[in-house]
Amino acid sequence: MSAPDQWIAAALERRAIPGDTDVRRIVHGSADGFPGLFIDDFAGRWLAQSAVNPPPGWLAEQMARSIYYKQLDVGTKTAPQHLAGERISEPFLVRENGLVFEIDFASGYSQGLFTDQRENRGRVRRIASGRRVLNTFAYTCAFGVAVAAGGGTVLDLDLSRPYLAWGARNYRHNGLPAQDSIFGDVFDWLTRFRRKGRVFDFVILDPPTFSRTPDGKVFRVEKHYSDLVALAAGVLSDEGGMLCCTNQRGLAPEVFHRLVRSGLPPRLRDIVRPLPMPAEFRGDNYLKTLWVGHP
Ligand SMILES: C[S@@+](CC[C@H](N)C(=O)[O-])C[C@H]1O[C@@H](n2cnc3c(N)ncnc32)[C@H](O)[C@@H]1O
Repeated sequence: MSAPDQWIAAALERRAIPGDTDVRRIVHGSADGFPGLFIDDFAGRWLAQSAVNPPPGWLAEQMARSIYYKQLDVGTKTAPQHLAGERISEPFLVRENGLVFEIDFASGYSQGLFTDQRENRGRVRRIASGRRVLNTFAYTCAFGVAVAAGGGTVLDLDLSRPYLAWGARNYRHNGLPAQDSIFGDVFDWLTRFRRKGRVFDFVILDPPTFSRTPDGKVFRVEKHYSDLVALAAGVLSDEGGMLCCTNQRGLAPEVFHRLVRSGLPPRLRDIVRPLPMPAEFRGDNYLKTLWVGHP
């Protein structure tokens, strides 16, 4: 076996994930001996990502499987390119803890499921029973699916109709009832809900690091997260809680904690708990998660 083959074999062995799961990160940069290279396994199809182009030559030699490659560049945001093995022309399904999600390698820069949120999906699923949950920045409704599977009801909110339609398919793939969804801006809708007195028992905040609405409103984590938290706190029921996330690498955990805390009303400020990433993202805790409220 060549050195990369041995490292891949070692990385796979370290990552035997219990449960009904066939989607996971299998290589996470230097922690696995591949500085700057990240590989996700989507039910046997690999998506490799790196800031450099072209990718390392040995990747294309892993002919036993489909391999796609995406250059990490939020500026160009190009879709993955075929590198080796069978070409994938259709969306396909993967499983995470028994839940099914639709993946599409041709859909653009993102493929439908963020593998780094597995533990958080599990956490919201465990507390969801009987709760009314608002899933903001819903994307393909992966958090919503976890909530519905846990026995909660969901309102998914996103600026993209195609992503909400993808989310609707994700509920169907799991045999779950369709959930309510709203196409619109999170800031506008949180303000409207507040005005109308509409409340939720749990709010999920997992925004992109930067976004711009069609009418030009800009969201930046470091500038606007506190406002987002304050608006979300305004629609919480008395016992309500929140999941606050950001994958902004440059933001220190203590700064994120301060941003979240400063948006919270006094009754919630002291029940803010940091939560870890999935273990396979070893030594690189860029995804920061704060759980607000009980349990
Ligand atoms: C990084 S994804 C969010 C990931 C998602 N929470 C998940 O768990 O998969 C970004 C999503 O936020 C949506 N979005 C960005 N700005 C928005 C805004 N102002 N209001 C509503 N949705 C927004 C985008 O359409 C996209 O679907």
